[in-house]
Amino acid sequence: MTVALDIRGLTRRFGERTVLEELDLTIGAGEFVALLGRSGSGKSTLLRVLAGLDRPAAAISHLPRQTAVVFQEPRLMPWKTAQQNVALGLRRPDATEAARVALAEVGLQGREGAWPATLSGGEAQRAALARALVRQPELLLLDEPFAALDALTRLRMHALVADLWRRHRPAILLVTHDVWEAVSLAGRVLVLEEGRIGHQVTIEASYPRRRGDPALADIEAALLARLGVGQKAASASG
Ligand SMILES: Nc1ncnc2c1ncn2[C@@H]1O[C@H](COP(=O)(O)OP(=O)(O)OP(=O)(O)O)[C@@H](O)[C@H]1O
Ligand SMILES: [Mg+2]
Repeated sequence: MTVALDIRGLTRRFGERTVLEELDLTIGAGEFVALLGRSGSGKSTLLRVLAGLDRPAAAISHLPRQTAVVFQEPRLMPWKTAQQNVALGLRRPDATEAARVALAEVGLQGREGAWPATLSGGEAQRAALARALVRQPELLLLDEPFAALDALTRLRMHALVADLWRRHRPAILLVTHDVWEAVSLAGRVLVLEEGRIGHQVTIEASYPRRRGDPALADIEAALLARLGVGQKAASASG
């Protein structure tokens, strides 16, 4: 397996509090991995380390050359157009054209000149995805990128991300609270527990994955139980 990311024994403390402890994580090239975990378990802390936004004394044996991050909020510069935002910091002569192509890929053709304030939440998040994609990352880090969107827009975004992943094949690490989002998109789902990957499940079902698929429903229920939710529903029905 070609490796996109390999970390061994990653520890991150904030004062007295140890958030990540001796964490090991390997992600294969082109692999789609989802990361679940309770609030405060350290998911964003891990992503910040992987994105190079935080450098603890870590045993990172392989970090990709090119990573890109999309956060829960789009973080677009309000005084720059959608296209300028996507092209921002791109060091290549065809940056403007590359930004236009990336915007078209996320369905924002015709909106190149739009100001961020005039974009809907879903559109702004698609522009943020375009800004990540245009960098042709080996590893794409997504920190709850759809959490603020309405349910229907979120489902559309799932389809878009699945499609972009198929076409470009970056490795993806998607942090989410939405267990179905993890199960419907990822080939492997991890659960962050007590500072390390405490549990993982590989999902081989083909795409697109259907909500009614009983095998997927079992995986979803097991993950919910692992996260400490859903037992009530399970015992009520059993
Ligand atoms: N810069 C910081 N200084 C001090 N403590 C921090 C800092 N960043 C994160 N923490 C602490 O680390 C812990 C993990 O935070 P983190 O944001 O990684 O959790 P999370 O799993 O992303 O949670 P959520 O699901 O709510 O987004 C929390 O207890 C948080 O308070
Ligand atoms: Mg977080």
